[in-house]
Order: sequence, then structure tokens, then C-alpha cells
Amino acid sequence: MIRKAVIPAAGFGTRVLPMTKAVPKEMLPIVDKPSIQYIVEECVKSGITDILIITTRGKEVIEDHFDKSPELERALDKPGKENLLEQVKGISDLANIYYLRQKEAKGLGHAILCAKEFTGNEPFMVLYPDDVIFGEKPVALQLIEAYNEFGKACVGIKTVAPEAISRYSSLKVENLKDNIYDVTDMIEKPAKGKEFSLYSILGRCLLTPDIYPILEETKPGAGGEIQLTDAMAVLAREGKMTGVDFIGKRYDMGNKLGVMMANIEQGVLHNEIGEDFKAYLKEFVKTL
Ligand code: UTP
Repeated sequence: MIRKAVIPAAGFGTRVLPMTKAVPKEMLPIVDKPSIQYIVEECVKSGITDILIITTRGKEVIEDHFDKSPELERALDKPGKENLLEQVKGISDLANIYYLRQKEAKGLGHAILCAKEFTGNEPFMVLYPDDVIFGEKPVALQLIEAYNEFGKACVGIKTVAPEAISRYSSLKVENLKDNIYDVTDMIEKPAKGKEFSLYSILGRCLLTPDIYPILEETKPGAGGEIQLTDAMAVLAREGKMTGVDFIGKRYDMGNKLGVMMANIEQGVLHNEIGEDFKAYLKEFVKTL
């Protein structure tokens, strides 16, 4: 059973500047909810009860978002506001959320190492908050099911465009069954010709505690950062990793185009404004 999740949220978000100068990128909205709330909701729907968010200076607003808000709750406690009150109260009751500061941004691998005391001897889920994924079955749960079947660490994988692979990780894979693969090697940000395949890790990893001794030995890699991929590559080469070509619609909230795509596509589906927004968009596209 997977009870714990780690959400690394201590990056600078430079690709979404200037917005992210004072507002954490994890708080960028898709319509009316910050992206990190979708991530926490995915954990809850997948049976996870305890979540550690790795933060850094300037990210306190994330803690405020998941905290109780007595003044706001009092203000909403009147006829006609029941729905809003319920939504606001619901956010603070989602899960047990813990926070830890990564004191220096030394890379995603280092951020995960900070979670060692929290996860202890248990396998745990890592969700990258940039990757908001809408699926009928939450992607975290898709990975948990693969873990329950194969008993190995498991990464969420998807193919990326050939011209994009040098910005991602590249995986050596062999099909096991349906959309589940054995992952036997990987490389972060491969130089041209060094890629294993167009399969890359996107957004979700289920890790076993075996990762920690490896991370402790991992030297800074691509970009001078301690790369989680370099440590996961060791697990993969030891035959301890699978990958799930997950089913779901992913938005990359770590770049400006991804933020706009998420808001337009989810705006059209939104239960309050969807129909009006669709009508507006139809008129607007005629002017393009
Ligand atoms: P990214 O490299 O995509 O995030 O790291 P970033 O550094 O915030 O983005 P840019 O490139 O400057 O725009 C992937 C994930 O790892 C976290 C980030 O918050 C993001 O969720 N991370 C990265 C950490 O928690 N600590 C780090 O030292 C580095």
C-alpha cells in the first residue's frame, strides 16, 4: 500500500518569469484552482494520506492555501454562499500535508533526498507539480497498480517529439504487457545520438527506499544539479524499475504555452463558465 507522496516544489520556475518572481509556479491557476491543488487531489484519489511538499523561501502561500482560513470561512458562512464555504473548507481537509524547506536548489535528486526521514522504509509516490494530468483513473493510481503487480519502482512515461528529447530524459524500455514496460536504463537531457528512445519520464515516479543510498552517492549531473534521473538509472540497470505509458491528458504548467493550453482546454470544460467561454472562443477565433 502506498500512503505517502512527495511533491518537490522548491524550483525557481524561471521559465514562467516574471509571474514567478513573487508567486510560486505551483500556485498558477488552471481556471480557478492552483495547479498544486490538482496534484494533491490526485494523491487523495489514489489513496495517499500523507504528503510532503518540499518548498523554499517565498513559497509560504502554498502553506496558506492548504491551511484553515477562519476569517474567510466566517465571511462565507451566510445564505447563498454554502457552495463556496464547502469548497474552502474542503481544501484544508484534503490530506495530512507536511512541509520541508530545501535550503539550496541543488536539483530534483537533492529535493527527494530531503524526504528521506518522511518516507522512511516505505515506497512512495513523487509527483512533479508542473505536470497536471487529467485522467479517468489518476496517474498515481495507475503507477500504484503496476507496483502492486510487479513489485518494482515505477515511472510514468510518454513519448516526446524527436526535437524535444534533448530537454527531457530518455529511457531504454521493453514491453512487459499492455502499456507497462521494463525500464532498463535512462539518461537525462541526452546529447544528439545518445538517446535510448523517445520515451521520457513525465510527472510521476513511484520510488522504493533503495533510491536513497544511490542518491547519497549521486554527483551533480546535467546543469550542475543532483539529478533524480541519474539515481533512477542505477535502479533501472539493476532491473528494479518498470514504466507505465499512462492514460491521461497532461499539461506542462512549467512553461507559458502549457499554462495557456491548460486554461483554454479546461476552461471550455468548466462547469460554471464552460459554455460562455466556448461561445466567446468561437467568436474570437474568427478574428485570428
Ligand atoms: P524544473 O527544473 O522543471 O523546475 O524541476 P524549475 O527549476 O522550477 O523550473 P525552471 O527550469 O527554472 O523554469 C522539476 C521539479 O523539481 C523541483 C521543481 O520545483 C519542479 O517541480 N525542484 C527542482 C526542486 O524541488 N528543487 C530543486 O533544486 C530543483
